[in-house]
Amino acid sequence: MSVSRRDFLATSATTAAALAVSASRGDALPSPVSRLAPGGAASRPVVLASSNGIRGVKVAYDQIVAGTDTLDAIIAGVNIQELDPNDQSVGLGGLPNEEGVVQLDASVMHGPTRRAGAVACIEDIATPSLVAKAVMDYTDHIMLAGQDARRFAVNMGFKTQNLLTEKSRQDWLRWKSRLNRGDAWLDHDDDIRIKFTTGTINMNAVNAAGDLSSCTTTSGMAWKVPGRVGDSPIIGAGQYCDNTVGAAGSTGRGEANIKVCGAFLAVEFMRNGATPEQALIKVMERVIAMTEKRLLDDNGRPYFDLNFYALTKDGRYAGASAYEGSDFAVCDEKGARIEKCVYLYKKEQRPTASPRET
Ligand code: GLY
Repeated sequence: MSVSRRDFLATSATTAAALAVSASRGDALPSPVSRLAPGGAASRPVVLASSNGIRGVKVAYDQIVAGTDTLDAIIAGVNIQELDPNDQSVGLGGLPNEEGVVQLDASVMHGPTRRAGAVACIEDIATPSLVAKAVMDYTDHIMLAGQDARRFAVNMGFKTQNLLTEKSRQDWLRWKSRLNRGDAWLDHDDDIRIKFTTGTINMNAVNAAGDLSSCTTTSGMAWKVPGRVGDSPIIGAGQYCDNTVGAAGSTGRGEANIKVCGAFLAVEFMRNGATPEQALIKVMERVIAMTEKRLLDDNGRPYFDLNFYALTKDGRYAGASAYEGSDFAVCDEKGARIEKCVYLYKKEQRPTASPRET
């Protein structure tokens, strides 16, 4: 794919609005990444994640500063969510598929060695990020899927457990009971709204030597058709890392991201000189341009949201979403904090009813 420099320097009105958010954050407009010397440059340690990674970015940052490899550090960061039974979007406690089975996806990429690993649709293992790394470390392959990914994990010594917590099982039963009025499942008499979710955790890091890594892990779309694989385990969609440029990743509706290989595209935009903000807004515009009509309102705005995160080799970063209101987590020498994503549309422009949320 070729993206001209002129293409992304031609700033659209939406991009300008989005960039206003970062300007209000006080960021200086950075120099193009393409000016960096490829293959190694002094940087500053930064860990960037989706907002649910607020605990993990601190853990990963502290490890990186202490000398841990960036990939090991961010995996330790995402493990916190994977092992947290109260996080219903990742690992243990993740919301199940339509049959009540938790199926997980994850992928990792290690900049310095240019290696990657992934698992898709794996069951019974709470830390698919570590299994993805084991695929990277111990096989000549990049992705293992389904029962064979589980078997691989067991052979590698991973512990199996039932990942469906009581809370997620109850939510699944409520969702199921409300599917069709005429079916044999009675509605519960509570009025808890069971939301359709696409929660995920993405984490990216750079160390002082300018070495990068990226990782994404998820239980995927709640109530999905069994066997569905989202963007998270797809190298270039759920996450991507090029040690000469930067890293990027995504959370949200994977089906929308897969079609544009959003993480790869963000890194390519940055390779050609875009700032992280510019790159992510351009990716978001591409997502919308590639979205089928049934998922867009009459104004061409998506019913879903999708978030992207990007980090450069020299420690610049951004998060972006289609709609105003999303956050991301970051940790650097100033500590761990939540910052605002740049966006394409104001909150009020969001369509009120999504076909998948009603
Ligand atoms: N982005 C997570 C998923 O769609 O599975």
